Amino acid sequence: MIYKRSSALFAQASEVIPGGVNSPVRAFKAVGGDPIFIKKAKGAYLYDEDGNELIDYIASWGPMILGHAYGPVINAVIEKAKKGTSFGMPTEIETEIAQLAVSMVPNIDKIRFVNSGTEACMSAIRLARGYTGREKIIKFAGCYHGHSDSFLIQAGSGAVTFGSPNSPGVTSGTAKDTLLANYNDLENVRQIVAANKGEIAAIIIEPVAGNMGCIIPEEGFLEGIRSICDEEGILFIFDEVMTGFRLAKGGAQELLKINADIVTFGKVIGGGLPVGAFAARNEIMNHLAPLGPVYQAGTLSGNPLAMAAGLAMLTTLNETPEIFTSLNEKTAYLHNGLENTLSNGILPYQINRLGSMISVHFTDEAVIDFKTSAKGNNDTFKKFFHGMLSQGIYLPPSAFESWFLNDALSYADLDKTIDAVSKVIKEL
Ligand SMILES: Cc1ncc(COP(=O)(O)O)c(C=O)c1O
Repeated sequence: MIYKRSSALFAQASEVIPGGVNSPVRAFKAVGGDPIFIKKAKGAYLYDEDGNELIDYIASWGPMILGHAYGPVINAVIEKAKKGTSFGMPTEIETEIAQLAVSMVPNIDKIRFVNSGTEACMSAIRLARGYTGREKIIKFAGCYHGHSDSFLIQAGSGAVTFGSPNSPGVTSGTAKDTLLANYNDLENVRQIVAANKGEIAAIIIEPVAGNMGCIIPEEGFLEGIRSICDEEGILFIFDEVMTGFRLAKGGAQELLKINADIVTFGKVIGGGLPVGAFAARNEIMNHLAPLGPVYQAGTLSGNPLAMAAGLAMLTTLNETPEIFTSLNEKTAYLHNGLENTLSNGILPYQINRLGSMISVHFTDEAVIDFKTSAKGNNDTFKKFFHGMLSQGIYLPPSAFESWFLNDALSYADLDKTIDAVSKVIKEL
């Protein structure tokens, strides 16, 4: 495939935008080469500026669960835009999407909309601190909760891909309030809690991690943290920015049957527009301004276009829950195809999957946390990524990211992907 125009656009972008991209995960730094510039997308397909057609496995990093340019979302946005794009005053649609989200997700009474997953997680932590009167939080190595200061301590996703899991610019005062635990290591959590008794406001986790590849919580891990939180008066925050409205209607809480105290959302909830949200039971949410003292705000929060897109997306997912089954079946089919193909080769590999999140790691050790994820062979991944790209398959340009399937993918697309893997691994 030829990427002449993309490369020219990237060169121009790099003159005026740091690294040529507005979010580092879009750069190809981890895999080499220039990022591809996209002209348009429809269904499961991306069309780039050079006229190449690519089967998409990132779905805009999660939101496009029903495929690109999904009709009801596009129409809802167009109709809303005709009536004005922002008022800075309440609108009915904010209540409509809030009611729907609260009805779909277990264990929440109220939800507040913001503009990104970062904002949602940042606000959730402030709320937890305000509610408990404590300052410290526990996060897990390799989990990513957005780019706010408290979370850039051993962060996953682009932060680890580009070698800055602990970002310069985060003050030591902030860093000391974020305690770091190992994913799937309950004993480690227990020790940290014991060493900081009465000081921890919240434990925040990706209930199924997607920012160090896809990592599945081992049985008893989340349940164990739930018990610790109950015993110690700590709030358990599920960062469902990736898993919310993707793993099930009610997200990981529903699928794994574990209640969180605060849940954060992003991605799918905005239908491809910039939306995040955080939600909890009344007793917690009522601490937020203007009801309570914990301040949080946003000029464009609950923006009508964003709410229209989100409402159209959630309405489809709510009214056609068989989408989740169909997505799971498609991802299981891909998983099976990958397994058959990779097991014929000589390369060590691991495939992790839950629902429509899946990742391949080139290592012979089970990938259960950040340490084991980091043992994957990045040179092999680079070649795999570029090999797949040359076959018209767009994977995340980093081994530290989950692939996201969308329901517009056909079985023919999945077969084409599996065939591409079998060609590519012969050349690795
Ligand atoms: C689990 C998780 N939390 C939070 C975020 C931050 O969301 P945003 O990029 O919308 O700020 C991300 C982004 O990928 C994420 O994957």
